[in-house]
Amino acid sequence: MNCSIQFPSWPSALSFFLPLLPLLILFILGKMKNSKTLPPGPTKLPIIGNIHNLLLSGDDHIPRVFRDLANKYGPFLHMKIGHISQIIVSSSELAEQFLKTHDVNFATRPDNFAANIISYNRKDVAFAPYGEYWRQMRKVCVQTLLSFKRVKSFDGTRADENHNLANNTLKEFPVEACKLRLGVLDLSNNSLSGLPPELGKMTTLRRLLLNGNTLRTLRSTLVSGPTSNLLRYLRSRLSSDDEVSKCGSSAYKVNQIAEATRLSLSSKELSLSGLKLESVPSTAWESYEIVKIDLSMNLIEILPEELSFCSKLEHLILSKNKIKQWPGALFTSLHNLSCLKLDNNMLKKIPSNGFQGLSQLKILDLSGNASSYPEPPGFSGLTQLQELHLRRMQLIAIPLDVLGLRQLHILDLSQNSIATIPIDMKNFISLTELDVSDNNITSLPAELGLLESSLQVFKLDGNPLRSIRRAILDRGTKDILKYLKDRITT
Ligand SMILES: *[C@@H]1O[C@H](CO)[C@@H](O)[C@H](O)[C@H]1NC(C)=O
Ligand SMILES: *[C@@H]1O[C@H](CO)[C@@H](O)[C@H](O)[C@H]1NC(C)=O
Ligand SMILES: *[C@@H]1O[C@H](CO)[C@@H](O)[C@H](O)[C@H]1NC(C)=O
Ligand SMILES: *[C@@H]1O[C@H](CO)[C@@H](O)[C@H](O)[C@H]1NC(C)=O
Ligand SMILES: *[C@@H]1O[C@H](CO)[C@@H](O)[C@H](O)[C@H]1NC(C)=O
Repeated sequence: MNCSIQFPSWPSALSFFLPLLPLLILFILGKMKNSKTLPPGPTKLPIIGNIHNLLLSGDDHIPRVFRDLANKYGPFLHMKIGHISQIIVSSSELAEQFLKTHDVNFATRPDNFAANIISYNRKDVAFAPYGEYWRQMRKVCVQTLLSFKRVKSFDGTRADENHNLANNTLKEFPVEACKLRLGVLDLSNNSLSGLPPELGKMTTLRRLLLNGNTLRTLRSTLVSGPTSNLLRYLRSRLSSDDEVSKCGSSAYKVNQIAEATRLSLSSKELSLSGLKLESVPSTAWESYEIVKIDLSMNLIEILPEELSFCSKLEHLILSKNKIKQWPGALFTSLHNLSCLKLDNNMLKKIPSNGFQGLSQLKILDLSGNASSYPEPPGFSGLTQLQELHLRRMQLIAIPLDVLGLRQLHILDLSQNSIATIPIDMKNFISLTELDVSDNNITSLPAELGLLESSLQVFKLDGNPLRSIRRAILDRGTKDILKYLKDRITT
């Protein structure tokens, strides 16, 4: 057959389109009229609209493209992606108007042909116009279709993946494969002599086919019986080591506490650090002869009452918990307490008599929370204090009560916003370690040089120091102090 396409000659094509010309003009005029009410925007090309502005801008980051366009046309501009009109809003005030003030007016999805078809004239929850109908639809979805119970009930279906390894020559089922979430596992007609205990952890498994194997290590009633029984048996054979790796489980905690209690009888130290405990069970207190207790890194909010019976206690470590109330009453019965760490808690307030009964205290750490700074007279009653840690407490100056603690060996004031070191600091002749790193110190008083023979460690990193050259700072404590001393003008 002779297939040839006949192209109409020019005159006949014109005679076909000519009657349509008025329609075309009307169409273009209509568009121009419409566009008058639209916000400004870049020039639109036929068919593609403004797609070229997005693709040819030389920037592959769309938000930056919109920013540049907003700089040119203002924060409220009109673009066309293909033939679809889009309004781009690039200012937070205008966006708030759209999304918050007038959100109801803009909540409805645009009417579109495809959505009408797939959602039966917008009868679903995604495309339905905002209003009473949509609200009812959403209620139905949230309460019945997407409820936790309903989603959970599909678990089996989602895990329903079959695995067929029948008719192979498998000698053993690999442990790694026990991580698969399978519904059915067919291992029939292989050369298996046993099964790994880890297979017991495949809790989604409903059917395990094993016929045609010579499973010598398993009872035949287990092999031919219900899959759930076999899995339970395998789980029971998992080594206890495997259980321990599930750190944080209650069995693990109970074990750890029992072990710590046992140790505390001989060592007089009770260590229950990092166990995510909300409270210390009474079983942990086998002995009140304890001298050191470490409860750091738990979730403790209220301290255990038993603490007040530990009258020999010397070290109490409570770092990184959730303690809110200053445990002042407790301290009146701990006369020999010499080390107290309460850093990184949520202490609201330390009352003026907060350190009553702590006259033996040598080491104190209150770092990590600005609200943990004691009310006046502050630390001045702690005449034995040798070590004080006040990191990250938003201090803007070295407090006067701290400057009065002349017996201090170690003073840690790092990660605050301290701007100056007072000249008075020269009287701290017992100080061996001073940490003021990560503060806002711009200059050092030359008098600090008088501490040259006593101060061993002087940490200054992370300060905007201008008065001392970097090279000197890099040389370390001794050289810095010597440099300062040389500059004392007498
Ligand atoms: C395994 O082999 C048997 C016979 O050799 C055959 O009937 C069966 O369909 C095979 N099964 C699979 C899953 O290939
Ligand atoms: C296992 O082998 C037997 C005998 O060859 C066969 O009848 C049976 O269909 C096989 N099972 C599977 C699941 O392939
Ligand atoms: C406190 O310590 C002192 C000196 O180490 C000691 O004599 C005293 O018995 C201790 N007090 C208690 C209650 O353990
Ligand atoms: C500091 O303590 C206050 C008062 O309890 C608490 O609200 C705040 O979260 C704490 N801050 C930190 C960083 O723990
Ligand atoms: C550090 O000090 C300067 C003035 O010397 C001040 O403008 C700035 O806010 C301070 N920074 C902090 C974090 O306190």
